[in-house]
Amino acid sequence: MRKKVTIVGAGHVGESCAMYLAQTNLCDITLIDIIEDMPQGKSLDLCQAGPIVGYDCKVEGSNNFADMEGSEIIVHTAGLPRKPGMSREDLLNKNANIIGGMAENAKKYAPNAMILMVANPLDIMTYHAWKVSGFPTNRVFGQAGILDSTRFRTFVAWELGVSMNDVQAMVLGGHGDTMVPLPSYTTVGGIPITELISAEKIAELAQRTRVGGGEIVKLLKTGSAYYAPAAATIQMVDSVLNDRKRVLPLSAFVDGPYGIKGQYIGVPVVLGGGGVEKILELKLNDDDLAALQASAGKYKGVLAEIGY
Ligand code: 2OP
Repeated sequence: MRKKVTIVGAGHVGESCAMYLAQTNLCDITLIDIIEDMPQGKSLDLCQAGPIVGYDCKVEGSNNFADMEGSEIIVHTAGLPRKPGMSREDLLNKNANIIGGMAENAKKYAPNAMILMVANPLDIMTYHAWKVSGFPTNRVFGQAGILDSTRFRTFVAWELGVSMNDVQAMVLGGHGDTMVPLPSYTTVGGIPITELISAEKIAELAQRTRVGGGEIVKLLKTGSAYYAPAAATIQMVDSVLNDRKRVLPLSAFVDGPYGIKGQYIGVPVVLGGGGVEKILELKLNDDDLAALQASAGKYKGVLAEIGY
């Protein structure tokens, strides 16, 4: 039998996740949304692309959380998107209710699954899903670091006029304007960007990365990004289902490393069949460490707003 992944929320992020995931042909997909018929329609449409694109996995839509049963991973995308002028934190209470409901259902119908959080505010919602589900921390993690890093990679590649494929980057911290792009761990064909781009220009690219989600919200006007968030999510699903043990930044439960205690925040991890198998503690300079701790401190305050 093929493995199964459930995607909760069939809006733009959920449907894009389903599309990229179907293209990998790695697993069967269940797309759940509370809107009647809509996930069924999108799933049928995705199935009908299969003969052309070349996949034959099952893609099924549902309005019933019981259909999570048997999932290896539950990708949670459901939530209200940001509108212009809204911060990710503004979404807090509304999305906490939606995520709490999903986590209760995961506990009931898919108690051995992993939860991969995509909804914002990301680090907070990942913590909330962990608390409500009661799952071990290695099985609950959030997508964000890959998205933030891929934005940085894109801007660096454009700046240098080189292939995006040759740019690697590391962006840590919370998924918000306090995130911490790390130029000293960002390389082009193995060469640190600090050798290739001026400090002022790097600072500019890092700042564009920090507000990268907001830049797209301003342009779209009615919602937030979905192609890059979905591509980042599916890279994580692939690393787990294939036990690739990729080294990726994501929101993981940190309890000690980087001087951070008991919260979800973006750090580099080894992601494999066991979920978050290891947190990597990089040597950071004083400014970057202070920025990472400040980012974590900000989210600690936000956790308190939802009663943690
Ligand atoms: C982003 O950064 C929506 O959080 C998502 O685009």
